[in-house]
Amino acid sequence: MVGIGIIGCGKITQLRHAPEYLENPGAHIVGFFDMDAKRAEATAAKFGGRVYDSVVQMLADQDIDAVSVNVANVAHAEVSIAALEAGKHVLCEKPMAVTRDECEAMVAAARKAGKRLLIGHNQRLANAHVHARQMIAQGLIGKPLSFRTVFGHPGPECWTGKPDSWFLSKAAAHFGVLGDLGIHKTDLIHYLLDEPIVQVSAVLRTMDKRYTTGELVDVEDNALCLYETRSGVPGSMQVSWTFYAGEDNSTRIWGTKGLLRLYDDPKYSLIWEPNQGDAEHHRLDELTTNEDQNAGNRTNTGVIDEFIAAVSEGRPSVLDGEQALRAMRVVFAAEESARTGQRVNVAQDV
Ligand SMILES: NC(=O)c1ccc[n+]([C@@H]2O[C@H](COP(=O)([O-])OP(=O)(O)OC[C@H]3O[C@@H](n4cnc5c(N)ncnc54)[C@H](O)[C@@H]3O)[C@@H](O)[C@H]2O)c1
Repeated sequence: MVGIGIIGCGKITQLRHAPEYLENPGAHIVGFFDMDAKRAEATAAKFGGRVYDSVVQMLADQDIDAVSVNVANVAHAEVSIAALEAGKHVLCEKPMAVTRDECEAMVAAARKAGKRLLIGHNQRLANAHVHARQMIAQGLIGKPLSFRTVFGHPGPECWTGKPDSWFLSKAAAHFGVLGDLGIHKTDLIHYLLDEPIVQVSAVLRTMDKRYTTGELVDVEDNALCLYETRSGVPGSMQVSWTFYAGEDNSTRIWGTKGLLRLYDDPKYSLIWEPNQGDAEHHRLDELTTNEDQNAGNRTNTGVIDEFIAAVSEGRPSVLDGEQALRAMRVVFAAEESARTGQRVNVAQDV
């Protein structure tokens, strides 16, 4: 049984981590920490477990084998590295961290400690994405020729329920929508095509998202990235916090044999449109929206099951920190491209 500590008791803990640990027969929640002690107490009362006074106190507890790091982005690296150095396995939420050096240091700390570091890239576990990766690997779509991936919703306020949420502040989040939604889709392209993105041109803009004072937020609310993979496949990623209508979480991949459409239809999560012959429609699952989750329509993301299995069986995971690091390098390159107006090469050595 893997003893679990959860650090950060906000929305992702309430809706995903804590209930998914409870559902996993190989995990046992030992306790919680949050810098807001009342929130930690309420969470422990709801899901069971003790409350710690500090991260240090939690990490000293021998009953804890592994931790979820569910705090604001700027604290991901510091908390994850402290946990790894204390001999705990770590599941850290996305975005992995806020600088490239921090991300590299997290991977190095996991290697040094001989512990697992997984990142919460749940899009890799969605059924249509898993199925699509197999189809592409088996050559069923032919040679991939281009892609388009989109993730847009009305913004993080709709997730947290707070108009001035930390997601909208550079000091706590570092990134805007690029790190929030763009990291999911960047990483997804790596997963689907099984090769890294090595060139990026990006435009980041703050179009409409405002603090309650009326001022525009200091992070981007829209990002458009042109990507090219190592083998030269071009594609685009559009992510937005201002899709007030027409939420979108879809991906299209065109190959020499046809078009693969993922979460691009309200009814069918995977549609295969071959150049010749009839289309195939598969109803594998649905990606839940923020609205669904806030209404209590919870579905198990599979992230916790994957973490517990990887820790218990000692096997590699599609959520391993090394994979996330590759996607983070692309996101940092996108920031650089937006800042300089230049196309940026991404060194992908691991
Ligand atoms: N995988 C996904 O799809 C997904 C979805 C939503 C959020 N997230 C990520 O999960 C993380 C948490 O997001 P959330 O929506 O739960 O936010 P939230 O604001 O609801 O909760 C964050 C909690 O962390 C606490 N906290 C912040 N910094 C801390 C620190 N240094 N030490 C201890 N506690 C601290 C806050 O008091 C708060 O209770 C973020 O990194 C976010 O990007 C991932």
